[in-house]
Amino acid sequence: MSNAPDRNIGLELVRVTESAALAAAPWMGRNKKIEADKAAVDAMRLMLNTVEMDGVIVIGEGEKDEAPMLYNGERLGNYGAGRQVPRCDLAVDPIDGTRPLALGLPNSIAVVALAERGSMFFPGPIVYMDKLAVGPEAARVIDLNAPVAANLANIARAKGKAVTELVIVVLDRPRHEQLIKDIRATGARLKLITDGDVAPSIAACLPDTGVDAVMGAGGAPEGVVTASALKCLGGEIHARLYPRDEAEKKRAVEMGYDVNRVMTSADLVKSDNVFFAGTGITDGELVRGVHYSAMGATTESLAMRSSSGTMRRILATHRSEKLQQILSDQKQRLAQQASGR
Ligand code: FBP
Repeated sequence: MSNAPDRNIGLELVRVTESAALAAAPWMGRNKKIEADKAAVDAMRLMLNTVEMDGVIVIGEGEKDEAPMLYNGERLGNYGAGRQVPRCDLAVDPIDGTRPLALGLPNSIAVVALAERGSMFFPGPIVYMDKLAVGPEAARVIDLNAPVAANLANIARAKGKAVTELVIVVLDRPRHEQLIKDIRATGARLKLITDGDVAPSIAACLPDTGVDAVMGAGGAPEGVVTASALKCLGGEIHARLYPRDEAEKKRAVEMGYDVNRVMTSADLVKSDNVFFAGTGITDGELVRGVHYSAMGATTESLAMRSSSGTMRRILATHRSEKLQQILSDQKQRLAQQASGR
């Protein structure tokens, strides 16, 4: 095997996100964010360690919420002395939408992206990025430095719609007060969401999802995850680091970050050999969540690969007795790893 990740790794990643979603789903509505995160993180880590790769987490999560983490810099995969496996960067979000999961609300998903080593942007201490994400038709007409009205006019023209027919998704946060006013002033329709800006950014790339663009400041790690998916789908994201205060800005500048620079998806993920997988945890517009029946659990996932431009939608059934066995094997392996065996 060469050092470049090969196409099968995309399907391996679906197992990873399925596993995280299946581990997280029992926590739906139980108002236990940390426990749900831990379950998804543990399952994702175990499954990533079975993938034939030498992977390093560039985009982990947890600092923002002090949640259980897949650590930045953590090395994962089934690699060993003398074996030739691809060297990869990983961006993971075992639960994008921890709060909706904890409250039993829609749109929480497990996601992972993979690209060649050294190709993913590391946002360092910066928690948020200002983002503008669109699908393929509008990929070449956006400009994060341009006024909202100009961007919406260009997106509408590129999509053959009136501005008033657009739907723009924005996280419902006080920091977006002006952005929301600016969007409303154009007459465009607005969809305010409580959490989870990765799924709607992907939805903006797909026909008939009712999303034309995602705008506003959201998680910086999610920006890199989104860029990975959008590279696979031919969409585009523009992003600029969004320090929360002067201290964060000063720290970023001291570390060499340019907080004024608008980055494109090619800056966020340099490789053109990118893979993305996502599995629904709770029902959403992009994918269904985990459902249970007498047969077992069902999952719906997306698997994408940039170099082929393929997106697969994968429905899987996980039989109850096997699922129980797998979950208890996972617990045992975790306990063994914890005790150093
Ligand atoms: P989690 O991974 O913590 O569930 O993040 C959910 C999320 O809504 C992201 O999708 C989004 O980018 C970010 O949090 C927004 O951050 P904040 O809630 O601090 O505004």
